[in-house]
Amino acid sequence: MTDPAQPHQPWLRLPLRQSITARLVLMSAASALFIFALAGIVLYTVLKGELMRHERDGLFTTLNDISYQISRAGNTERWGRVQLKLATLTQADQHVSFWIDGKDPRFTFGDLTHLHSSHITEDDGKSVGRLHLPGRQYPVHIMTRTLPAFEERPEVQVTVGVDGAPYFEMRRTFLLATTVFSLLGIVLAVISSYWIARAGLAPLRRMSARAQNFTPRKLSARMPVESLPEELSVLAEAFNGALGRIQEAYTQLEAFNADVAHELRTPLANLIGETQVALARERSAGEFKDVLQSNLEELDRIRSIINDMLFLARSDQGEAATARVPARLADEVQKTVDFFEFVLDDASMIITVAGDTDATAMMETALFKRALTNLIQNAIQHSPVGALIRIDIASQEETVRVAVTNPGAPIDEQHLPRLFDRFYRVDSARQDINGSHGHGLGLAIVKAVARMHGGRAFAYSNGGHNSIGFTIARD
Ligand SMILES: Nc1ncnc2c1ncn2[C@@H]1O[C@H](COP(=O)(O)OP(=O)(O)OP(=O)(O)O)[C@@H](O)[C@H]1O
Ligand SMILES: [Mg+2]
Repeated sequence: MTDPAQPHQPWLRLPLRQSITARLVLMSAASALFIFALAGIVLYTVLKGELMRHERDGLFTTLNDISYQISRAGNTERWGRVQLKLATLTQADQHVSFWIDGKDPRFTFGDLTHLHSSHITEDDGKSVGRLHLPGRQYPVHIMTRTLPAFEERPEVQVTVGVDGAPYFEMRRTFLLATTVFSLLGIVLAVISSYWIARAGLAPLRRMSARAQNFTPRKLSARMPVESLPEELSVLAEAFNGALGRIQEAYTQLEAFNADVAHELRTPLANLIGETQVALARERSAGEFKDVLQSNLEELDRIRSIINDMLFLARSDQGEAATARVPARLADEVQKTVDFFEFVLDDASMIITVAGDTDATAMMETALFKRALTNLIQNAIQHSPVGALIRIDIASQEETVRVAVTNPGAPIDEQHLPRLFDRFYRVDSARQDINGSHGHGLGLAIVKAVARMHGGRAFAYSNGGHNSIGFTIARD
């Protein structure tokens, strides 16, 4: 069986696929061949028909002429005159021959042995035959008529012949001329279409020469659209659009790299600083233990940043939540809240769960909890001591929605859409209730988890309450 994805004739497809010029030249050669062949066949057929008609008319007139005289020649004396006339006609025009065949040898004419021994074929299926005489290159065109007996003369068959050479020569010359002319026409068509294709594709070549110059360092450069022909300007616009998107992604990537370096630099600097100070003089085992303890915290912090970034990278590559199981949202929310029992106690905060507590959805529970943990951590970090934090669950048409709302300083409108960007912090100098900085990946992870579950993340700030949450698809 042949694979439909494989080209059937690679030898034919390769040059066509690789070059538009080759494709155009081949196509115009093929169409020129078709047109010339068609015109040649039509002209040749018409000419052949006309030549044969001319031949037949000539034969018919001559046959009529002599039939009239022969029909009246009923005795040998009159026959003698007929023979003389036919001999004169033959001498005057070497191309014409006559044969008269009958039972009485006195009333015959011409070399009848040739007539009898030669092969006669029908030429046009009508009244003209072909007599193939020995020693002649071309057959003789003949027309025969039977004349009834008259007086002494019995019934005779009168045959008029004309040499076919001019007819066949003309046909051959015409065929040769048409073939040569057609071949010449095809060569001209190939040359002109090659030239046309080269000239027509010149803007495309200029365009690709320009495209060669685009490098990551020159991503702001664009293809000039105005100087291009209409057909290519659409392509150039699409190309420019793609360049714009690449530039945006590239800039984001560069900023992200800078952020990553920046975020890792601080804990690394702390590690190095603390280690250097510890090594600067003699220390007791207890002191070293303290340093190692502190270093371990910094290393943990680095590990958590790297883990978060790896998770985001996997989600960027389109990884979806595959291990999804049906779960009741209220249960998963409660399990997550339970983890915060001591932290909440310390800060005298309370979390309430409200809304559609029966709502269920397909989810990867570990991811769901991870996202909700980030939201609760943020809410605790940004609420005043003794605050009441609310978690609302709502069922929507195709999704379920979880929102964590806490009282706190309003978040400025301009920050809201950017909260979910990596490393974005509204006030990076601010410390949380534990006195440490977040690294700005928590909400990016919430957004990634929502996307992996076919949902999205959202944030509102209203009347001293900040509400941040996400949706996930029900199934
Ligand atoms: N509930 C909230 N109230 C007010 N601001 C918030 C709230 N949640 C998040 N933000 C703002 O959004 C920023 C981004 O939050 P995100 O959770 O992504 O990072 P982070 O908390 O700073 O660090 P991380 O969560 O990675 O430890 C925070 O720095 C904070 O400025
Ligand atoms: Mg956070």
